[in-house]
Amino acid sequence: MIDFRVLPEKASTFAESVDPLYWFLILFVGGFFLVVCAVVLYWGVKYRQRPEEDRPSYHPHAIKLEIAWTVVLVIIALGIFVWGSVLFFRAYDAPDDALEISVMGKQWMWKIRHPNGMRETNELHVPVDTPVRLTMTSQDVIHSFFIPAFRLKQDVLPAKYTTMWFKATKTGEYPLFCAEYCGTEHSTMGGRVFVMEPEAYAAWLRGEGGGEAPDDVLAAGRRLYDRLGCAACHTAGVENRGPLLEGIHGTTVEMTTGETVVVNDEYLRESILNPSYRVVKGYAPLMPSYKNQLEDEELMNLIAYIKSLPKQQVAIAEVK
Ligand code: CUA
Repeated sequence: MIDFRVLPEKASTFAESVDPLYWFLILFVGGFFLVVCAVVLYWGVKYRQRPEEDRPSYHPHAIKLEIAWTVVLVIIALGIFVWGSVLFFRAYDAPDDALEISVMGKQWMWKIRHPNGMRETNELHVPVDTPVRLTMTSQDVIHSFFIPAFRLKQDVLPAKYTTMWFKATKTGEYPLFCAEYCGTEHSTMGGRVFVMEPEAYAAWLRGEGGGEAPDDVLAAGRRLYDRLGCAACHTAGVENRGPLLEGIHGTTVEMTTGETVVVNDEYLRESILNPSYRVVKGYAPLMPSYKNQLEDEELMNLIAYIKSLPKQQVAIAEVK
C-alpha cells in the first residue's frame, strides 16, 4: 500500500485548528468554482443565438438579488478573516511556561540548543503535550523553519529573532524543512523532529541518548556578563547609568520617546547591539554598541543569563 495523504500527519494542537479552516477554504472556493461553471454553461445554452421572436425579455437590474449576494459574501469573507486572525494570534502568543529552545539557521543546517545547553543539528527533540517556544535567528541569509505536521512555518532572519510555539500532541518522528530558498543546498536543509514522552526527553537532555554533552549556557552567559562589565552600569547605586537587569525580562518599560516596550529576547538583543535605538526613560544613551564583538551564540548565552537574573527588591525602571 502506498501511504497517500492529502495533508501531512497532524501532531500539534495548532494542526487541529488549522485544518478545519484549510478545508473550509478549499470546499468554499471549490464549491464556488463549480457553481460558476454550472451557471456559465446553463446560460450559455439558455441564451444561445436564436431568431428574434423567441428571445427572452431583457432585465437590466435585479437590485434585491445583487444586494443579497453582496451582503452574504461580505459576511462570509469577514467570517473567514476573523477565523484566520484568531488562529494567527494564537500561533504567535506562546504560553508563559513554554519550554524555550533556540534555533539557529545557517547555510545549510539547523542548529538547535535546549535550555540546559544540550545541542543538536538538524534534529529537534521535544516533549509531548508541553508548550515549546522556539526563538530563532539566522547566521547568514533568510531561512524558514517549517514543520508540516505541526502546521507551522516561520521565517528565520539574520540580525533578528523570530519566534514560534507549539504543543506536540503525538509522539513520533516528523520531517522538518527549510521553506525559504537560501542557496544551492536549500533542498537538503532539513531534518527531523522527535516528539518524546517527557521522561524520555528528560533522559535525552541529560545526554543519555548519545547526544553531545550539554554546555552550561548560564555559566557561559555569566562569564560574558563579567567580561563585558555589564554590571558596571546596570547596577543600583550612585552611578545608576543603566536600568537594572535583575528581573527585567518580561516587564514592560517606558522609552525616552514615551513608547512602551516589553523586554523580551528581541529587545535585549537590540539593546546590546544597537543600544541607542530605544533607550529606557530616565537614562542617557551612554551604552556602547557590542555589534561585531559577540557571536550569535554568545549573544544567546548572554541573554539567557540576563533572563535568569532574579528580581531584586528594588525598583527596576522608573515608569511614570
Ligand atoms: Cu535554509 Cu532554505
